[in-house]
Amino acid sequence: MKKVLVIYYTQTGQLKSAVEATLAPLKSKGANITYLLIKPKKSYPYPWSYTEFFDIFPETVHGIPTELEPFSINENEHFDLVVVAYQPWFLSICVPINSFLQTEEAKKLLKDKPVVTILACRNMWLNGQEKMKLRLKNLEAQLVGNITFVDKAANLVSLVTVLAFVLAGKKENFLGIFPKYGVSDEDLQTIAPKCGDILFKHLETGNYDTQQAELVEQGAVVVKPNLLLMEARGRDLFPIYANYISKKGTAGSADRRTRVRIFGIVLPTLILILSPIITIISRLSPLLFPSKIKKEVEYYSKNTLR
Ligand SMILES: Cc1cc2nc3c(=O)[nH]c(=O)nc-3n(C[C@H](O)[C@H](O)[C@H](O)COP(=O)(O)O)c2cc1C
Repeated sequence: MKKVLVIYYTQTGQLKSAVEATLAPLKSKGANITYLLIKPKKSYPYPWSYTEFFDIFPETVHGIPTELEPFSINENEHFDLVVVAYQPWFLSICVPINSFLQTEEAKKLLKDKPVVTILACRNMWLNGQEKMKLRLKNLEAQLVGNITFVDKAANLVSLVTVLAFVLAGKKENFLGIFPKYGVSDEDLQTIAPKCGDILFKHLETGNYDTQQAELVEQGAVVVKPNLLLMEARGRDLFPIYANYISKKGTAGSADRRTRVRIFGIVLPTLILILSPIITIISRLSPLLFPSKIKKEVEYYSKNTLR
């Protein structure tokens, strides 16, 4: 019987549902699945206050770990496959999972293991996954699959609904006009089990060479040129903002609160202004630089790290 370890974090359970929907075929075919929930010692609030939400930004971008509760697992146990399930926070790996990846236990559990990443998020996951590829490489793990569930609404719509979701705890019918935030039930019913079948097939043989290509064919990841261009701006600017805030103080300190609040206004405003402009540029880019955009889309659909 094949053994699968799922290392995950979730605040509202969205990611856990996506993981369970994906792994359902493995479970029904007899794979043994162990879930390891990563718990920060000081848990994050849900819903978040405006200040708490933006205050976590510098540490998230810099990858600074937080203290975790002891793990309920024997780190020497053997698993055939490890699933790392995480959310991108501010285009980076969410703090709980990034903290786990920096522990001695992670070194033991992941070294030389095939790893599949599963994400459930708004829609901006490319940079977070690049950081994940690097972490896994340093842990000598082998990334053999990536499945990313996103909110498929237009970028500005999901910007509003994700903020209503994380800051007000409102998932549906925000202001009576906005659609439900998050990953759709339809994706969980259609794409997730197809991905699960593919994962099971490769788990059985232990040969993962064609797994990612098969997953992509089933819609496991969709890379959109407009979001690719948006994320590139964020990737360049975020470390600068993160340094600007952390120069004033450590996480939660009153000294940096003004800078945190400025960022909390600047970031949504920038996305509002840039999003339509970048959407227009992205519509033109395939005409202006067809091979470059195609190459980028292909790269982010794969598990290699450049
Ligand atoms: C602090 C924070 C930052 C986030 N940043 C991003 C992001 O950069 N890209 C994205 O697609 N989603 C982002 N999200 C949304 C999450 O990926 C996810 O959809 C949400 O937190 C719910 O997931 P969960 O209930 O499984 O924790 C962010 C959420 C939080 C709390």
